[in-house]
Amino acid sequence: MAWAAAAILFCAWTLPFAELTDTSVTCTFSEDCVLPCTFKASSDEVIHWNRNKLSVHAYYRAADHLDKQDKHFKGRTSLFKDQIKHGNASLLLRNCNIQDSGKYQCYTSTKQGNQEKLINMKVHAPIRSVNIEKIDEEVICSSKGIYPAPNLSWTTDPPTQSDMLNNSTQTTQDPNGLYSVQSKVRFMGNVSNCTYICSVTSADGMQKWTTSLKQQEMSSVNGANVTIPCLAPGIFKPRAFTWTITRAHKAEVILRQFDNLTQEISDHWKNKARVDPKQVLSGNGSLWLQNILENSAQTETYTCAFAAFRIQHLVLTDVTLLPEPHTGDQRNRVHYAAILPGALIIAAMCALMVLKKKSKQRDTPGPEAQQKPTLLTSPNSNGR
Ligand SMILES: *[C@@H]1O[C@H](CO)[C@@H](O)[C@H](O)[C@H]1NC(C)=O
Ligand SMILES: *[C@@H]1O[C@H](CO)[C@@H](O)[C@H](O)[C@H]1NC(C)=O
Ligand SMILES: *[C@@H]1O[C@H](CO)[C@@H](O)[C@H](O)[C@H]1NC(C)=O
Ligand SMILES: *[C@@H]1O[C@H](CO)[C@@H](O)[C@H](O)[C@H]1NC(C)=O
Ligand SMILES: *[C@@H]1O[C@H](CO)[C@@H](O)[C@H](O)[C@H]1NC(C)=O
Ligand SMILES: *[C@@H]1O[C@H](CO)[C@@H](O)[C@H](O)[C@H]1NC(C)=O
Ligand SMILES: *[C@@H]1O[C@H](CO)[C@@H](O)[C@H](O)[C@H]1NC(C)=O
Ligand SMILES: *[C@@H]1O[C@H](CO)[C@@H](O)[C@H](O)[C@H]1NC(C)=O
Ligand SMILES: *[C@@H]1O[C@H](CO)[C@@H](O)[C@H](O)[C@H]1NC(C)=O
Repeated sequence: MAWAAAAILFCAWTLPFAELTDTSVTCTFSEDCVLPCTFKASSDEVIHWNRNKLSVHAYYRAADHLDKQDKHFKGRTSLFKDQIKHGNASLLLRNCNIQDSGKYQCYTSTKQGNQEKLINMKVHAPIRSVNIEKIDEEVICSSKGIYPAPNLSWTTDPPTQSDMLNNSTQTTQDPNGLYSVQSKVRFMGNVSNCTYICSVTSADGMQKWTTSLKQQEMSSVNGANVTIPCLAPGIFKPRAFTWTITRAHKAEVILRQFDNLTQEISDHWKNKARVDPKQVLSGNGSLWLQNILENSAQTETYTCAFAAFRIQHLVLTDVTLLPEPHTGDQRNRVHYAAILPGALIIAAMCALMVLKKKSKQRDTPGPEAQQKPTLLTSPNSNGR
């Protein structure tokens, strides 16, 4: 009795395992992949790799026989010829694509008998980068070339109610079957001090990429020395660190720092821009600029970017330059001296033109003048 029970138990225990002996492999899109298969080494080897009853690769009489091969695999398969005599029938599949995934059958036969193995093959395309940018009043987060479809979510720091985050996410598939995901979120209320954090997670949850963006504003007096703050809490030892300035929609690099602590400063900013390389390692990339001098009352956007393993953090700073306060300055006097006569002449010409037209209108109150009365009337008298 006990024996029978034990036997039944044993069978019940081994049965599911027999089914699970299928091997699973995950291959990476556009890379080469080995589908493993071994057999007991002996002579007269015959190897058939099939998928859905179609031939993937065939080998017998010491040679490949690919005349019946499924066109989908054409030119992409090979066996490790020198390993066959050691019982290795593994298949090398080059340049994997999404359509390659499925159940492969490895049939081997030798003088000593034959066997069949199943290999469950999956293809994935990992997340390689996540991009974040600000366009007008929206923050846009995107990533592409991913399989299976990833998850994208937003959070803010300090936290806001998630239903307040008015977001729109679009997932699209390209002809290769890879997914692209893009999500836009609107800046809400007071933009400063809020960090927008976008997370893109792979479908299996194994890969999580985080990219964040913060916008801040500051103003400075033209010609002053300024420090533009840039803090990336939680980022230590970034792989790359960059400061850029956006001019006419084009980003121009000011400074770069590599993970070996060396910095590269563009010629234009030599001796004018400075970042403490050691502080960058602990997430403080504040930029010191000497004698910030541009066209007055202009706003420029300075961007600071930290990149670490699967993490990116951007700080966008709009710096508004105010005109110099001291009017006694030599340069300002030159300015006024140049502008004043010109302004006076223009004002005088305008006054003259208005007077001329007014008198013309009074002289000839024809239909023409009545059609466009607002052109010459002041806003106060308009419509009263
Ligand atoms: C078969 O040989 C190839 C090439 O040397 C090797 O990459 C693979 O791991 C081998 N497979 C097994 C199951 O030993
Ligand atoms: C974004 O929008 C989706 C649907 O429109 C919603 O399910 C989600 O909770 C929203 N918020 C975040 C933070 O993703
Ligand atoms: C955001 O919310 C506004 C109204 O509050 C709505 O009109 C708009 O369509 C929403 N946008 C998205 C992307 O959900
Ligand atoms: C945002 O907050 C800052 C600091 O409190 C304030 O100076 C600024 O005016 C606010 N901006 C808006 C658009 O509310
Ligand atoms: C913004 O952040 C700074 C420093 O983190 C803080 O001093 C300031 O009070 C904050 N402003 C607002 C409006 O939350
Ligand atoms: C992705 O989102 C779906 C539904 O929105 C959820 O069922 C799934 O668990 C999420 N996956 C991960 C890895 O977060
Ligand atoms: C700016 O910094 C430079 C170098 O440290 C210094 O010589 C100069 O006086 C400073 N200018 C102002 C306006 O503080
Ligand atoms: C630091 O890394 C950068 C980029 O990898 C390289 O160009 C530079 O030569 C390196 N400097 C040193 C001192 O190793
Ligand atoms: C960041 O560094 C700058 C100078 O590089 C310094 O003035 C500032 O106090 C630092 N901020 C923090 C929060 O450590």
